[in-house]
Amino acid sequence: MLSEETRERILGYLPRYRTKRAAILPALWAAQDEVGWLNTEAYEEVGELLDMHPTDVAAIASFYYMFHKQPMGQYVIEVCNNLSCELQGASDMLEHLRQELGIQEGQTTEDGQFTLRHQECPCYCEFAPVIQVNTETYGNLTPERIKRILADLRAGKPALDGVVHGPDSAALAAKVPLDGQGGDDGGAG
Ligand code: FES
Repeated sequence: MLSEETRERILGYLPRYRTKRAAILPALWAAQDEVGWLNTEAYEEVGELLDMHPTDVAAIASFYYMFHKQPMGQYVIEVCNNLSCELQGASDMLEHLRQELGIQEGQTTEDGQFTLRHQECPCYCEFAPVIQVNTETYGNLTPERIKRILADLRAGKPALDGVVHGPDSAALAAKVPLDGQGGDDGGAG
C-alpha cells in the first residue's frame, strides 16, 4: 500500500536513530502523509520496515491525537478549545466553522475536503483564538479571516492570512528579508 517513495523516506530516517524502533514517529508521519490516515495495512508496513509487531505500532499511534485512525478530509481543521482561546472566542470561531462547512465536530464534508475537530493547546496562546489546518497554524482569528482562509483552501491556494507557523509561513518568511522590504514577489501577496 505504501509507495516506494514513502518506504524509502522511512528507511532514510533509520540512520538518524540508534534503533529502528526509535524512528516510529517520523515513520508514522510519512505513512499518514501518503495515505491520509493510519490503518491496519499502514501499521503492518511500518512494522515490517522497523522490525516491529503491527500491534506495537498501532499501540504507539493510538497514544497520539495527531495520528488519524479514520479517513480524514483533505484539510483537517482543528480548533483549539483550551483556556486562552476560549477566552478569546474559540467557541464562536467553532460555530462559525460549523456553519461555513455545514458539519459538526468529528465530521467531514461530503466532498471530502474538510474535517472539523478540536485540539488541545498547540502553544500559540499569544495568537488566540487559534486553529490548525493540517500542519499550518493560524491565529488572531475572526469570522472574516476564517472566510478568507477557507476561500483560499477551496481555491487550492496556500492560505497565508493569519498564519503564525507552518511550512507555508516558513516559506513566506524566507522570501521576506529582515529589512522588511519584501522579496522578489513583493512578500506575502
Ligand atoms: S489555549 Fe489555544 S493556543 Fe494555547
